[in-house]
Amino acid sequence: MRGFDPLSFEAEVVGRLRSEIRGEALAAVSGGVDSAVAAVLARRAVGDRLHAVVLDTGFLREGEAAEVARELGGVLDPQVVDLSAEFSAAVSGLSDPEEKRVAFREAFYSALAGLAGEVGARWLVQGTIAPDVIETVGGIKTQHNVLEQVGIRSLERYGFSVVEPLRDLYKDQVRELARHLGLPRAVVERQPFPGPGLLVRCLGECTPDKLGAARAASGVVEPALLALGCSQTLAAALEDGGRERPDLAREVGVEVRELDARATGVKGDQRRLGKILVVSGVDYPDAAAPVRGELLAAEPGAVRVLMEVDRWGGGRLAVAARAVSTEDFMTAEACLPPPGVLGEIAEGIRRRVPGAGALYYDLTPKPPATIEFE
Ligand code: XMP
Repeated sequence: MRGFDPLSFEAEVVGRLRSEIRGEALAAVSGGVDSAVAAVLARRAVGDRLHAVVLDTGFLREGEAAEVARELGGVLDPQVVDLSAEFSAAVSGLSDPEEKRVAFREAFYSALAGLAGEVGARWLVQGTIAPDVIETVGGIKTQHNVLEQVGIRSLERYGFSVVEPLRDLYKDQVRELARHLGLPRAVVERQPFPGPGLLVRCLGECTPDKLGAARAASGVVEPALLALGCSQTLAAALEDGGRERPDLAREVGVEVRELDARATGVKGDQRRLGKILVVSGVDYPDAAAPVRGELLAAEPGAVRVLMEVDRWGGGRLAVAARAVSTEDFMTAEACLPPPGVLGEIAEGIRRRVPGAGALYYDLTPKPPATIEFE
C-alpha cells in the first residue's frame, strides 16, 4: 500500500482514459468496488459517453441488481438488464466448477457485445485487478473478467477493446481509491462476491431448486455471520446424502459421512476437487478444531470438513454456511460462531429455504479448502 497516492493515480488514469476512449464506452458494474471504481474513473474521463449497466445474470442475491442500481444511482446511473434466461441456458447441464466459470465468461462477453452494439460502444471498461489476472493466467481459477491475458482478442471476437485502468492494483489500493473518489460506503466495504455469483455457490449443476436454495440461504446466513466481524461469509447449496465412513468415525470418535458431491480445495498453488466429510455429534466449539485436524490428516482426499448443525429432513438439498477471517484471501481460518447463532441460522433456513433438509457449517481453513464453497 505504501507509495500509492490515489490523487495522482486518478489524475494520471483519467488523462489516459480520455485519450484512449475516443467514442462511446460500456461498463458493467456488479456493485463490487473494482467495477465501480473503474467505471467512475471512465465517467470522469469521458462523461456521458460512458454507459453503465448492471447485468442481472440470474445468479445474484435476492433484489441485488436493483439495490446496486440504487446505490450507484447518483454516480453512474446504471441500467439494469435482465439476462437470466441467457445465462441459465449457457450453463445448463454443467457441473464442473471450472467449466461453469468458462461458460459464464462466454455468456458474459456475448451479452456485453450485444449491449455495446446497441449503444455504439467500441470500448469496454472493466475493473480487472492484479490478482484476477495472476489467478486466471496461473490456472488457479478462471475469473470472468480476464480476456486478453489468456489470448482472447476482444476486438476481433466481441467488437470492443478492453480498458482496464486497475489492472496493476490490489484490493486495498482499490478500496483506498474508492474512498478518495467518494463512492458510497456500501460499495467501498462490500465483501467479495464472485463474478459468476451464486452459480459457484451451487455445488455441481446449478438447477433452479438449488439456485433458489442458495439465494434464500444467503439472505439468512450472510447478515447473521457478517455481524460477527468475519472477513467473508457465504451460503452454498448442495445435494445431501452420501455414505457413512465408519473407518473415519472410529478414528475421531464421532459420526462421519462422505457426501457424493465434490468441492474445490487448494494444494500448493493448484486447485483440486476433493471430498466433503460431514461430522455430527461434535462437542462444538471446543472439539471442532481438533476433530477437523484429525479428519484431514486421516483422509488426505478431503478438502472440507462440515459440521452438521441441524437436520429436519424433508429436503433433497442441504445448505452449507461458511465464514472466514483472512488478511490476504490466500489463506483463511474458519470463524467459529457461537452455538446460539448457528441455531438461529438453522431456524431461518428451515423456515425460508424450501427444499433444504439440513444445515452444515464449514470448519475448514484455506488451505486445504478454498474460501468459496465451490
Ligand atoms: P477462493 O475461493 O479462491 O477465493 O479461495 C478467494 C477470494 O476470491 C473471491 N472470488 C472471486 N472474486 N471473481 C471475483 O471477483 C470471482 O470469480 C471470484 N471467485 C472467488 C472469493 O469470494 C474470495 O474472496
